[in-house]
Amino acid sequence: MKLQDKCVLLTGASGGIGYAIAKALDIEGCQLLLTGRNQEKLQGLLNTLSGNKHQILCADLTLTRDRQQLLTRAKQLDCEIIINGLGVNQLSLLTQATDSQIEEMMVINLQIPIQLCRGFIPLLNQKNDPTIVNIGSILGSIGYAGSTLYCSSKFGLRGFTESLRRELADTNIRVIYFAPRATNTELNNQKNQAMNQALGNQVDEPSVVANTLVHLLKQKRAVTYYLGWPEKLFVRLNSLFPRLVDKALLKQLPIIRRFTA
Ligand SMILES: NC(=O)c1ccc[n+]([C@@H]2O[C@H](COP(=O)([O-])OP(=O)(O)OC[C@H]3O[C@@H](n4cnc5c(N)ncnc54)[C@H](OP(=O)(O)O)[C@@H]3O)[C@@H](O)[C@H]2O)c1
Repeated sequence: MKLQDKCVLLTGASGGIGYAIAKALDIEGCQLLLTGRNQEKLQGLLNTLSGNKHQILCADLTLTRDRQQLLTRAKQLDCEIIINGLGVNQLSLLTQATDSQIEEMMVINLQIPIQLCRGFIPLLNQKNDPTIVNIGSILGSIGYAGSTLYCSSKFGLRGFTESLRRELADTNIRVIYFAPRATNTELNNQKNQAMNQALGNQVDEPSVVANTLVHLLKQKRAVTYYLGWPEKLFVRLNSLFPRLVDKALLKQLPIIRRFTA
């Protein structure tokens, strides 16, 4: 699929991965509708992009009014691709989590992408290459201690995306679940970063994630894509032999407990 002149709605554009995706899609010649909560970061990103065809919209997508405003703008611009890149994360044991933290994780990582997909699908009539991308995570396929809430939300997003792909299988709408591994952005606070280092987890740069996604978008097939080796293999192992993975992850538990204390 050719990305040139396609209009893309990108949520999480003020974040690390979103920023890199916006830069990569700009190079491909896309028109971008960029959204996040941080006006300064969005404006800073806009200033680095080419031409004057891109737009930013500062929006808190937990608010119905802001979601509607975003979808109205997407309709005006004739957006054909949506990339749900917003997200939050928090390293903690379940017993440490407050009600509002549980709610925030589920709403931002799962509920908002679902609501945006629902609002976006009717805009895709008559489009040549309508595409939905939900950015999940390797942690949407492997449950980790210290990440119960994040994993729950991303497992949910993966299930939603798979169901939606099947629900839209008799249309021309492509539905992609794209799952990065740990990436060097502000989503990971200092504790996360130190824990990743202690566990020996590989950490990608956002540009690697963005370039992989752009490559996927250019392909015609609808896909579920896991980024990184050996993470791809662990996802398979976890679905086939979960007890093996239980045992392997037990060894990591004391390290994870140290960083959640
Ligand atoms: N970084 C990783 O290790 C990693 C690994 C796998 C998957 N992912 C996934 O990749 C995606 C992007 O993550 P990232 O690393 O780029 O995170 P990030 O740098 O923390 O960016 C998160 C983005 O989400 C936006 N956001 C959060 N709450 C919002 C709300 N209520 N309304 C509107 N926007 C909201 C933020 O906007 P403001 O900053 O403007 O508030 C920001 O643009 C997420 O879905 C994440 O789960 C990340």
